[in-house]
Amino acid sequence: MRRIRLGINIDHVATLRNARGGRHPDPIRAARLIREAGGDQVTAHLREDRRHITDEDVLRLAREVALPFNLEMAATEEMQAMALRVRPHACCIVPERREERTTESGLDVVGQEAHLRAFIAPLTEAGIRVSLFVDPEPTQLEAAKRVGAPCVELHTGTYCLAEGRARAQELERLAAAARLCAELGLECHAGHGLDYDNVAPVAALPEVVELNIGHFLIGEAVFVGFVAAVRRMRAILDEVRRVS
Ligand code: PXP
Repeated sequence: MRRIRLGINIDHVATLRNARGGRHPDPIRAARLIREAGGDQVTAHLREDRRHITDEDVLRLAREVALPFNLEMAATEEMQAMALRVRPHACCIVPERREERTTESGLDVVGQEAHLRAFIAPLTEAGIRVSLFVDPEPTQLEAAKRVGAPCVELHTGTYCLAEGRARAQELERLAAAARLCAELGLECHAGHGLDYDNVAPVAALPEVVELNIGHFLIGEAVFVGFVAAVRRMRAILDEVRRVS
């Protein structure tokens, strides 16, 4: 199987910085370490309330970091303008509710097909690779295809929180969704809640070409350092994919 692409979400470096104000720790410094740690892209979520990543962070990530930049954002006019301004390599469209602690469920593509079709078109024309963050539901994948998204990111949060039999069932849902992506011609990504213990079965799904992982790795970085935390994830992924 091919080496899986690993995006590192650096939002929570900014969370830590913002706890005190000021500039330390700098998420852009983390982004610059991703390559040497074995990651392939930097991922950051510009939230409506700017609770972690700020506009300035986005501008700096686009300007100062050589790695591909995957900007996660809601499907709002404000975010579209930002994406068209900085032209990241990729945009992942996520649902957003101000009061949620993190992105709790996937985007309802079925319920807003016309809006998303119109939202995606200028991004695609600008050369930005768009993905839609969706639950592993066939109806959502089919709608993603209809609105013109080339990629989807499967929300792995329910799988990560489930235990025992329920987890096996969630993994099967992800596997079936990944297979459907291949049938539909959608590039398949996955992410949310992944850690060293739960990542391998997801990375073993052959259709999944990209994972985006954040919170767990930034937490581990507190104990072992950012580069070591990401390196260990890279090693697990390479082992699953038998990459040497
Ligand atoms: N992918 C998407 C679309 C997300 O919204 C997030 C969280 O911001 C992640 C991946 C990373 O999730 P986690 O921080 O739980 O690894």
